[in-house]
Amino acid sequence: MNDRKLQPIGIFDSGIGGLSVLEEARKLLPHEDFIYFSDSANFPYGDKKTNELKKIIIKNIKTLVDAGCKAIVIACNTATSVAITDLRKKFSIPIIGMEPAIKPALEGRHEKILVLATPLTLKLEKFNQLRSKLDKEDELIILPAKGLAGLIEKNVLNGSDKKEIKKYLEKLFSKINKKEISTVVLGCTHYVFIKDLVQKLFSGKKVIDGNLGTVQHLKKVLKEKNLLNKQKGKGNVCQINTK
Ligand code: DGL
Repeated sequence: MNDRKLQPIGIFDSGIGGLSVLEEARKLLPHEDFIYFSDSANFPYGDKKTNELKKIIIKNIKTLVDAGCKAIVIACNTATSVAITDLRKKFSIPIIGMEPAIKPALEGRHEKILVLATPLTLKLEKFNQLRSKLDKEDELIILPAKGLAGLIEKNVLNGSDKKEIKKYLEKLFSKINKKEISTVVLGCTHYVFIKDLVQKLFSGKKVIDGNLGTVQHLKKVLKEKNLLNKQKGKGNVCQINTK
């Protein structure tokens, strides 16, 4: 009998951003096997048109479903905003999405929250819905970071000293009154790779991402559906890259 518990979990992103989610997932679910899918051929997602992107994402997720994944994490805020509703209609396995971690950022806070994400994530209905549900909506400052994921992909992969990114961030934050900010939300999985730089520019403030919350949710869903891999050994990771 084919034991679904032994099947891998798919982690999907446009590039390297989802690797930060994979790392967190391997800590929390060490016995699971993973397939990491990076759609480098279509990177970056954050500057694309919605309809074009939706088709690309559905095709990629079908590849992961056909590869036998028991669940999939869309480790990309942009892809989640564009396609999560369609993906859940099309595929019957659990599909976990990501959204900027605004709710935890607002808990018990009275200062402003700075939300950093791709232009597409911040423009789409999903984000507006998330935002409008908050009773402290006016406490959010929204900052689209066009081109930042691309800079990260280029600089982090070649191990550079991130000077170019530092310059970009200084310009991006130049109009922000840092004193009124309590928390910076990294609403794109690529930005987790530059958390240290953002933290330096917002010294003494909280800088948060949604990675841990996402993999905790994944674990909960797997448990509820009796899909947790109970093997003793450490799980494997294999990769699919469209480039
Ligand atoms: N990592 C993706 C996210 O979380 C976006 C990167 C891209 O623009 O492709 O939004």
